[in-house]
Amino acid sequence: MSDFTSGFWPWYVGVISLLSILACALLLWIAGKATVTAHPGQPIDNTTGHVWDGDLREYNNPLPRWWMWLFIITVVFSLAYLVIFPGLGSFKGLLNWSTESEHKQDVTQLSVEVAPLYAAFSAQSVDALVIDPRALAVGERLFMNNCAQCHGSDGGGSKGFPNLTNANAAWLGERTAEHIVQTVTNGRTGMMPPMAAAIGGEPEMSEVANYVLSLSASPHNEIKAYSGKKLFTACAACHGVDGKGNKALGAPNLTDQYWLHGWGEATIVSMIKNGKTNIMPAQSPKLSAEQIHVVAAYVLSLSKSSFPTAGAVTQADTSKTP
Ligand code: HEC
Ligand code: HEC
Repeated sequence: MSDFTSGFWPWYVGVISLLSILACALLLWIAGKATVTAHPGQPIDNTTGHVWDGDLREYNNPLPRWWMWLFIITVVFSLAYLVIFPGLGSFKGLLNWSTESEHKQDVTQLSVEVAPLYAAFSAQSVDALVIDPRALAVGERLFMNNCAQCHGSDGGGSKGFPNLTNANAAWLGERTAEHIVQTVTNGRTGMMPPMAAAIGGEPEMSEVANYVLSLSASPHNEIKAYSGKKLFTACAACHGVDGKGNKALGAPNLTDQYWLHGWGEATIVSMIKNGKTNIMPAQSPKLSAEQIHVVAAYVLSLSKSSFPTAGAVTQADTSKTP
């Protein structure tokens, strides 16, 4: 209740709350006082004097006592509540309680409780934790809460978001504890510059694209690929002479069936023309070093049984959407 943007709203809320409670109290009081005055010529017989259908009449019995008391208790309760808890504009209440402080308290309490667990995990290497079911269970939860929205709940990734279940050859960096911890802690930016100037016009870009497709034995135009081969020297600085990539630069392997940014000539031409900046935000503001240690073990465990050509965006998937 302390986050109002203008000084008007606290008053608006406070006054309306108080007026509503007072109006309830007033209504109770008036209703309690009201008496029936008989219409002229009618006997005083404890009815309101209304008659329907000739003989249907309305009695004027008072509310039962217990019912009245419930109303009174409600009014007293709401006044007491507004004094003790925050509810009246920006008044913080006598207890100074807030959902935020309660949450902070819970988090502190929890981190004290799990501290010994994390201390035990931190004492071991990430590689050792890969076979520790307890660490993997904690790691999985961290992954679901912090990574799954981008990398998928199974770590399978999607277009632009790497598949973390791949074997090392299809990773951007080395599939090691060190690379994972470093990536999660500081984030990473994959950057390929636009290459159109170095390659030439559309025909040349199409040629290199076909050469790139030939590297993974994907369907391609032989003649274009042949002419594209010499143009690929402009790409070799990063992707390697053989197109197998360069993990130090984060340049992907172009010879496998895993396509981070989609498959097909049009996609590759667009890569060459526009380049690509692909960002993973640093997770260190959200996760502690101990948590990153554990989630890294979970990530490593995802690719234990992978095969070299596994991929989120496979040739089969993207050939449908050129
Ligand atoms: C906002 C989306 C987003 C979130 C959240 C995110 N990532 Fe990423 N991650 C990416 C992107 C995008 C890349 C690829 C960056 C690039 O192209 O270099 C990436 C790359 C990686 C890589 C490197 C993969 C490789 O092939 O070398 C690892 C490991 C990784 N993320 C793990 C994680 C973990 C673990 C978490 C959770 C703690 C996480 N990421 C959270 C978007 C995200
Ligand atoms: C300065 C280094 C550099 C150069 C030069 C370069 N690339 Fe790249 N390329 C990268 C990086 C880094 C990525 C990964 C971007 C990311 O992390 O998302 C990439 C990604 C790609 C991809 C996407 C791969 C996938 O899995 O989806 C293709 C295709 C590609 N490059 C083709 C080329 C071609 C063709 C050339 C030459 C015309 C070229 N690149 C030149 C650095 C480079």
